[in-house]
Amino acid sequence: MVAFLLIFGALGGGALLLQALLHALDAVWIGRYLGIPGALLILASFGYSLRKRKTIRFGRPAHWLRLHELMTWLGSLLVLAHAGLHLNAILGWLAAGAMLINVVSGLTGKLLLDRSRQRLQQARQQTREQGLSDQQLEEHMYWDSLAFDVVKRWRVVHLPITLAFAMLATAHIVAELLFWSWK
Ligand code: HEM
Repeated sequence: MVAFLLIFGALGGGALLLQALLHALDAVWIGRYLGIPGALLILASFGYSLRKRKTIRFGRPAHWLRLHELMTWLGSLLVLAHAGLHLNAILGWLAAGAMLINVVSGLTGKLLLDRSRQRLQQARQQTREQGLSDQQLEEHMYWDSLAFDVVKRWRVVHLPITLAFAMLATAHIVAELLFWSWK
């Protein structure tokens, strides 16, 4: 939970700091373009899904997941610093809102996964160290399966959120490209 709040807090704080820096350097125009590397980083983070489904085969899946977390966090930071500078683009705000919900959902998944991993490790250690009774073993199995079930149920929520975000972000990008020459 502490990690959850720290990572999310650093995202908001980092975006504000970046914006303040752009203002101080009189380089607000850069913010308009920060959305591009931000969106590319988030797009690249889907490499994890490709690796998980063996569409690509290089790198270890666990490393890819860490990369996914890092790239979505950094990408969101750039998108947030970019979004804060354009108060008039409603589609953009909707996309940024969906992205933030996506980040909160991703962080929740990370928390749940970390907990299941801890429980599994504990269970493994205990079975190794002491001969557990059948009842104790059953209790461990119960909690472990529940932990995994929670992760499964979380995934059912995380995917539609990602889809909504992807659709809003695409609509915002298409609209910006269409009206680019008018600005
Ligand atoms: C823009 C924000 C984000 C988007 C669009 C996004 C998208 C996705 C997608 C599509 C998946 C499913 C992978 C698959 O099964 O193919 C996923 C899984 C996951 N994401 Fe994110 N994510 C975002 C942010 C985050 C953040 C900030 C974190 C944590 C720091 C995170 C952690 C996770 C975790 C732990 C999984 C589960 C791994 C699994 O089920 O295999 N995500 N994300």
